[in-house]
Amino acid sequence: MIGMCDSGSGGLTVLSALLKRKPLCDTVYFGDGKNAPYGALSAAQLHALAERATSTLTVRGADELVFACNSLSAAARAGATGNVRYIEMSLPGIAALATKPQSWRGLYIATPATVAARLLDPVQVVSLDFLPVPGLAEAIEFGTYDTAETIVGEAFASRRGKQYDGLVLGCTHYPLMWTRIEALARESFGNIEVLDPAEAVADEVVKQFVTDGQGRLQFFLSKDLPHFRSRVEELFPRNQYSIEYI
Ligand code: DGL
Repeated sequence: MIGMCDSGSGGLTVLSALLKRKPLCDTVYFGDGKNAPYGALSAAQLHALAERATSTLTVRGADELVFACNSLSAAARAGATGNVRYIEMSLPGIAALATKPQSWRGLYIATPATVAARLLDPVQVVSLDFLPVPGLAEAIEFGTYDTAETIVGEAFASRRGKQYDGLVLGCTHYPLMWTRIEALARESFGNIEVLDPAEAVADEVVKQFVTDGQGRLQFFLSKDLPHFRSRVEELFPRNQYSIEYI
């Protein structure tokens, strides 16, 4: 069974991309609100949390993992899952960017931890401008969208006058306010395409992992998150699900 993890609701956007392709995929999901926001943590802290997420999910029956959190990508790639097979956000994301023409210029927004991990730096497929956006994932998690809009507006203002072909959403929380982020990006940079690496990640999961089942979703949260249940119901109206606090 597939196990998925994130600091909270962000990974639901990756689960949604997966279930659009494989609606009957059984999934066990760990949302670690107690230690959120992950994007403000050090590499060593994230490594320990990735190890903990691995054991939390494997003891509950997961044998293939999806790190539905960019901030955990470096830890996963550095071996935090031991022998358990995993897919994280960065490599499929890079592969998707490699299909763009070399002249393509992207603005990559992500948490400070993801930008600091510099996982995408060595990949010279296209030119990317990395912009850390502190506080945005947290504002989205807690549904404070006015604050989130201010944060995004200020972040884009720091790049005023620059030109991009695309905006990469390098944190799995960001697609939860896709429409607003896209509108703000268009105001700042004109006609820009918005890319969510979750699409490429979901394609990889379908290629590499067992994705059949009965569409049963089990969610385990380390802390109650106020918008988690309503997001599950909105994104997966046809799935049977359970939420437990651990
Ligand atoms: N959704 C996560 C990511 O993709 C983590 C956000 C956070 O907790 O800071 O980076």
